[in-house]
Amino acid sequence: MKDGRGRLSATVLLAALAAAAPALADTPVQVAAPPGAAACSGCHGPAALGSAIPSLENHAAADIAVQMQAFRNGERSATVMGRIARGFTEEETRAIAEWLARPEAERHAQP
Ligand code: HEC
Repeated sequence: MKDGRGRLSATVLLAALAAAAPALADTPVQVAAPPGAAACSGCHGPAALGSAIPSLENHAAADIAVQMQAFRNGERSATVMGRIARGFTEEETRAIAEWLARPEAERHAQP
């Protein structure tokens, strides 16, 4: 009888998931910021619009990572980004870039 009960609860679970699916589709998945990423938004966030700080909206993760590498090794001159980029390892930079490349609604600034 154990098998029968298992099948029943699986059915109930599937029904619950199906009922929840439309609600889930409306709610963007929130992804917590990796260490350091929230600081980027402090400068590159909406307040930077129209300032000398470039927006990072619509940048692909790979693009952000490549720019960070160029800042880090001095290939690209910078006022502040050289120092900031050197503060992160390649792995941390990749995690930050992937997070920043997500749509805004998915970015959850509080870790
Ligand atoms: C203190 C403010 C400040 C912070 C914090 C900051 N940035 Fe920047 N960022 C700048 C400025 C200013 C530039 C323009 C280059 C320069 O002068 O350093 C820039 C340029 C960039 C660019 C190049 C964008 C383009 O379109 O050319 C990238 C990519 C970038 N920042 C990523 C980041 C990431 C990732 C972080 C967080 C780890 C970060 N920045 C944190 C101020 C900041």
